[in-house]
Amino acid sequence: MKRPVATAQGHEAAFRSCIAEIRDYEPGADAQQVAEATGIPFGDILKLASNENDFPISAAVTAAITRQFPLLHSYPWEDYGRLKAAVAAAHGVPDAQVVLSAGSAQLVLNLPLLYTDPGDEVILAPQSYALYEAASQVMGARLRHVPLAGYRFDIPAIIAALSARTKIVWLCSPNNPTGTIVTSAELQLLLDAAPETTAVVVDQAYSEFVDDPDYADPLAFLAAGHSNVIALRSFSKAYALAGIRLGYAVADPAVCRMLDRISEPFLLSRTACAAGLAALADDDWLAASTRAVHEGREQLSRELTALGWDVVPSQGNFVLADTHGDGRELFRRLLERGVIVRPADGWGYPAHIRVSVGTPEENRRFLAVLRDCLRS
Ligand SMILES: Cc1ncc(COP(=O)(O)O)c(C=O)c1O
Repeated sequence: MKRPVATAQGHEAAFRSCIAEIRDYEPGADAQQVAEATGIPFGDILKLASNENDFPISAAVTAAITRQFPLLHSYPWEDYGRLKAAVAAAHGVPDAQVVLSAGSAQLVLNLPLLYTDPGDEVILAPQSYALYEAASQVMGARLRHVPLAGYRFDIPAIIAALSARTKIVWLCSPNNPTGTIVTSAELQLLLDAAPETTAVVVDQAYSEFVDDPDYADPLAFLAAGHSNVIALRSFSKAYALAGIRLGYAVADPAVCRMLDRISEPFLLSRTACAAGLAALADDDWLAASTRAVHEGREQLSRELTALGWDVVPSQGNFVLADTHGDGRELFRRLLERGVIVRPADGWGYPAHIRVSVGTPEENRRFLAVLRDCLRS
C-alpha cells in the first residue's frame, strides 16, 4: 500500500523516494508502555502479540552464553564457523549452503539487495509478514500483490502473476498471521512454473511447530536441483531466542556466497553463536518446548472455537481467529486489562485477532481475561 509522499524539504529531499513510501513496521504493543498507561505492574502484563516463545530458555543455552562473557573483547570467528557447520549438519547440507544472520529478518532485508534492480518485480501476499514488502520497496521493486485465498497462498494465482521480471516470490510457511502452510504439491507446481531466475523464498520461521505431513520441505527441492529455492529459518521462535537475534538461510552455494558478500562480516555476536550451538545440541529441550506449543495451540483453538469464533487451523505458535466483531476494539479492551494480542486489521482482517501461544499458565490467564472482557 503506498502512502502519499509529501514533497520533501531541506535535507529530507536527499532521501530516496522509494524509501519515503515504505510504511513503518508496526510491532506488537510494548509491555512497558502498556504497564505505564494502565498502571498495571510490568510483571503482570501478558504479551501474546509477537509470536515469541515464553517456554523457559534451555539451561544449556544460558550456561553457554555466560561462558562467553570473559571472551567478549574478541571477534567471534571460531564459533561463527562452528555454528555454520552445526546448522549445516543439522540439515544434512554442506557448510557452503548456509548463511548465518542476526535474525532471519536481516536476510529478508538482504535478499532484495541481491536480486532486484529498480523495476524488477516481486510477488507477495498482502496477508503475510510485512517485512517482505518493505525490504522489496527499499530496492524500488515493483510489488505484485497476490492475496491469500481461504487464508492460504494462492499458488495458481502466483503462477499466473509470474513474469520474466519476477525476481522474488515471497512465501511464508507457516504463514504469519494465518498459520497455514504451503504443501509439497503446491511448491512443486510453483517451481515447475517459475523461471530459473526467480528466487522462491520460503520463510520457515515457524517450521519446527509444523505437524502436517503435507508440509513442503524446501531443502528437499534444493537437493533435487532447484537452485532457486531459498529457505529462511530462525532461532527466535522454536528455540525461544528472539532476543539473541539469530537466523539463517539454506540455499544454493552461489546464493550463499553472494549473501555473505553483502553482509557485515562480524554480524553475529559471540553470545548468539554460543547460544545457537548449545540450542542445536539440546534436542530434549526442543521436543519439550514444541510439545508445549502444540498443547497450547490446541487449547487456544478449542476454547476460542467454543466462543463461537472461527479459528484458522494453525501450524505455527499462534492462532488467528475471526471474532465476528471488531478485532481492534477487542484488542483495546484486552489491553486495558494488561493483555496484549495483535489486531489483524493491518492484514485486512478487521474482525480477527492473532494470539501467540503462551505457557499453559499464560494461556489460561488469557482465556480468563478474554471471557471477562466479553462478559462486560
Ligand atoms: C514470518 C516471519 N519471518 C521472520 C521473522 C523474523 O524473525 P527473526 O527474529 O529471526 O528475525 C518473523 C518474526 O516475527 C516472522 O513472523
